[in-house]
Amino acid sequence: MMSPHRKYPVLTAEEAAALIPNEATVAFSGFTPAGTAKAVPKAIAARAREMHERGEAYRLRVLAGASTGEPVDEALAEADAIAWRAPYQSSNTLRRQLNSGQVEFVDLHLSHLQQAVAEGFFGKVDFAVVEATEIAADGRVFLTTSIGASPTFLASAEKVIIEINRAQSPRLREMADISTVPIPPHRSPIPIYDVMDRIGWPYAAVNPDKVVGIVETDELDEVAPFSEPDSTSLKIAANVLQFLEDGLKAGEIPPEFLPLQAGVGNVSNAVMSGLGASDKIPPFTMYTEVLQDTLVDLMIEGHLLGASTSSLTLTPKLMKRVFDEMDFFIPRIVMRPQELSNNPGVIRRLGVISINTVLEVDIYGHANSTHVGGTKLMNGIGGSGDFCRNAYLSILMCPSTARGGAISTIVPMCPHVDHNEHSVQIVVTEQGLADLRGLGPERRARRLINHCAHPAYRDYLHAYLDASPRGHIRHDLARCFEMHLNLAEHGRMLPELDPSRFVG
Ligand code: COA
Repeated sequence: MMSPHRKYPVLTAEEAAALIPNEATVAFSGFTPAGTAKAVPKAIAARAREMHERGEAYRLRVLAGASTGEPVDEALAEADAIAWRAPYQSSNTLRRQLNSGQVEFVDLHLSHLQQAVAEGFFGKVDFAVVEATEIAADGRVFLTTSIGASPTFLASAEKVIIEINRAQSPRLREMADISTVPIPPHRSPIPIYDVMDRIGWPYAAVNPDKVVGIVETDELDEVAPFSEPDSTSLKIAANVLQFLEDGLKAGEIPPEFLPLQAGVGNVSNAVMSGLGASDKIPPFTMYTEVLQDTLVDLMIEGHLLGASTSSLTLTPKLMKRVFDEMDFFIPRIVMRPQELSNNPGVIRRLGVISINTVLEVDIYGHANSTHVGGTKLMNGIGGSGDFCRNAYLSILMCPSTARGGAISTIVPMCPHVDHNEHSVQIVVTEQGLADLRGLGPERRARRLINHCAHPAYRDYLHAYLDASPRGHIRHDLARCFEMHLNLAEHGRMLPELDPSRFVG
């Protein structure tokens, strides 16, 4: 143990970046833009550019908790400084690079990341670059607006750089509940029996001897605001809300309600606003991975009693409100590492109702969240699999069409499957809701087509099913991707459909 008076070296971001060699594996803090390391990755991007101009190679293997803010994925990808990335991303530039084969990408369940890193599945981690409000002389690291996988990155990395961000509230540590799951066979049950249970510490720990420097920053997370929900999102939200109200009335959902998980994005935002506005849904809790603006509003209004999350992904305005009213928010928010916020056993124990968005669903309920046309990655599976597979009720949503009706999101067979028929229970579009529980394959298919597909595509889908050879699951392997092939060739899944059927 070091002396309590020991001081860590203070470096500029450029000095810190210069320590990181070509081909290093670097683990950055960040779970969404929340808590993303900021100054050092930007300096790494600048260094990569200079080295490339001199004809020198410089590309890194990059880990973060999930997606990151601009300084990591976007800035590094623009500088062509990423060779390999896991477990999730949402950057336009990186998406282009990994879909062209320039970057190798590992699309991973977020709950699996910490164990994979701790067990060395991805090789050794050379550097961790982690944002904090403080690092104590004994190696206690007080994280900022996300926990993500940072505790494991700090424990596993050979060298550590800490970004001390003065713009983040030092009181964020009062929301943090940090403990890591030991590697097998040293595991015992995780004692989270209620959304708000705390089982850990307000800090992550690092061996102080590994800390090669501290970089000072003063920048809030850059989180973009949501656009107002469109009419399609509002209809999907209304269908989800009706289902939850009916479930409550029927006693499938207990009167005190169950914890909710909601994915990110505009549709999810519309659902959460709808829940807040309903007088039939009692005040509820959330066991989720990302806390967005709407949820803070729901908390202020008293609809959301408490939330467990791995990040506070808030626009600067809402973040300032949270910082100003910490006495109100601290008892209502617990921030956990992602192996706990997304832990399958805890999700199942708590009976979480999960609500996520997908790209497309096939007539039997297999869903594709990640790969457009089965080949081009959009973002990644993220936490959707952790929740969908283990939820008490798993709800998947999407608009019934995309690209102005050229694409039906209800298709005969998904060319890539993230969530399969064994996990998916409820599918919702703006057309309606298909409750698939208790139905065999053919009834699932008819219900999905009748309740969720856009009317313009229903005849084709029913005809596909009628013409397919019998089996437990009916499929015509020669035709099951006809709609996707049409899209690739003609730009529309059913070229014969009149586009005016999708207006309005
Ligand atoms: N085929 C082809 N393209 C499709 C499509 C389909 N079936 N469905 C949607 N798209 C296109 C849209 O046209 C749009 O393209 P554009 O950006 O060129 O306009 C794009 O995909 C995004 O569609 P949108 O409806 O705006 O989606 P979204 O922002 O609601 O995101 C996912 C949907 C599935 C991409 C997103 O929810 C995701 O990444 N999910 C996986 C991870 C996850 O669920 N995380 C939360 C778990 S905790």
